[in-house]
Amino acid sequence: MSFYDKDIVSIRDLDRKQIEEIIETAERMVPYALGEKRTKVLEGRILGNLFFEPSTRTRLSFESAAHRLGIDVIDVSEMSATSISKGETLADTIRMVDAYCDIIVLRHPHEGAARLAAKFSENPVINAGDGAGSHPTQTLLDLFTIKRAKGRIDGLNIVLVGDMKYGRTVHSLVDALAMFGANLTFVAPETLQMPADHVEHVKRRGADPKLTDKLEGAIRDADVLYVTRIQRERFPDPSEYNKVAGTYRIDNEMLREAKKDLVVLHPLPRVDEIDPEVDGTPHAKYFEQAFNGIPVRMALLYMILGGSGL
Ligand code: CP
Repeated sequence: MSFYDKDIVSIRDLDRKQIEEIIETAERMVPYALGEKRTKVLEGRILGNLFFEPSTRTRLSFESAAHRLGIDVIDVSEMSATSISKGETLADTIRMVDAYCDIIVLRHPHEGAARLAAKFSENPVINAGDGAGSHPTQTLLDLFTIKRAKGRIDGLNIVLVGDMKYGRTVHSLVDALAMFGANLTFVAPETLQMPADHVEHVKRRGADPKLTDKLEGAIRDADVLYVTRIQRERFPDPSEYNKVAGTYRIDNEMLREAKKDLVVLHPLPRVDEIDPEVDGTPHAKYFEQAFNGIPVRMALLYMILGGSGL
């Protein structure tokens, strides 16, 4: 199956077999991601890392992944540092970066920006998060983490809690989990529940998600608890954010009724949804999850840029 020159705009662009191939390749990348093995397999290539919204994990792990493969990186982390601030369009900006690089990674505040970039770029574009739209590479590292922790994804009880409305990570993740036959529960305040089109989409893939605002009952049977931050920056009205802020907070007391091998994940950053006391428990896998961004993004760069021999 060839990934050569492929855009990764939405997780819906990939089928289950392709996702499994990425997960398998990422497993081979782990010793390189850890620095235990060295390679310059993609030396001479250039990655354009365009981040027009704040990021720690995605931006730095793409950069680290590129360096681990011998790829050079051009990094832009503010729109104001580009000629967009003079009125240049995103389309023209992408045309320029396309001329200077072999692959573009784009984070942008507007949903659909990565799809537009893919249209104007000859070289492949990877969506690193577009507004409240999607975040496909986060989903790939989430799946990789679940597979490593539980040995499978099929048939697991996966509870997603927090902001189902504006959280782009959950929008991408539920599509993929439905593809893998996981049992899904969405826990959110009524105003932040999963948008109907995503619910319909996962149903079309054969899932039968439960929607609730009660976390306590859902946690008992969960194999994976995927916690998300309420996305304050996406609320048109700050008073609406204040009504739902702090609705859910995972602490050790709450985890007492959970399965012993429950895995707690979070795409991070967290604000107050997971008490730091959980960090020291065997449930906490979210920092490992963040590290997994490196081997997964290495796998994507390697496959899309036509690497071989690793
Ligand atoms: N998970 C994630 O996308 O984190 P950053 O916003 O720090 O990249």
